[in-house]
Amino acid sequence: MAAPLIAPSILSADFARLGEDVRAIDAAGADWIHIDVMDGHFVPNLTIGPAVVKALRPHSAKPFDVHLMISPVDSYLEAFAAAGADIITVHPEAGPHIHRTVQAIHGLGKKAGIALNPATPAKMLDYLIDDLDLVLVMSVNPGFGGQSFIASQLRKIEAVRKMIDKTGRAIHLEVDGGIDAATARQCSDAGADVLVAGTASFKGGADCYAANIAALKGAD
Ligand code: DX5
Ligand code: ZN
Repeated sequence: MAAPLIAPSILSADFARLGEDVRAIDAAGADWIHIDVMDGHFVPNLTIGPAVVKALRPHSAKPFDVHLMISPVDSYLEAFAAAGADIITVHPEAGPHIHRTVQAIHGLGKKAGIALNPATPAKMLDYLIDDLDLVLVMSVNPGFGGQSFIASQLRKIEAVRKMIDKTGRAIHLEVDGGIDAATARQCSDAGADVLVAGTASFKGGADCYAANIAALKGAD
């Protein structure tokens, strides 16, 4: 099986040196840069907005994987697209017409993802999957880094993998939350091809980033 792509979440980077940390994690082998946007309403935490995404854009040529945990979400899509997002992922609970939201993301020329919270069933993808570029299975409840992996989500990853394979399209299956070398392997075995990791990517400081990413790819 191919090694998974690793998308370090900058939520665990040094916010006082964000540009530098993005350059360092890029150079250390990050495949994508995962950017967690939280509004203090849809999730109980506040992070960053489009101005920060725009400021970071010159620091990496890797895909910016923007995970929007905000509600309502539709009115902010354009700003994140203009700021330099490549993939925009939204939660189905964040707007009344999620199919329209996916269409709007495509209308902006960006790739569209849907994030499934731990209690959200895979079934909700039934009438959306043909329009998606990515499915994100949340293996923690969204809002904070450093939480423990919820093992019940492995079954959901397997179920989503089957749904994706049935479409015959190259839709990414990403997992987010509590990823370390051990859970990374479990998620890959269950069918994930992209793993988000905040704590496990940035632990130990810049000298450790390359080894951290290699461990997540199963190279150690
Ligand atoms: C949680 C975020 C995650 C989180 C991952 O709401 O979506 O991306 O930062 O952090 P770790 O890898 O520390 O669980
Ligand atoms: Zn995330």
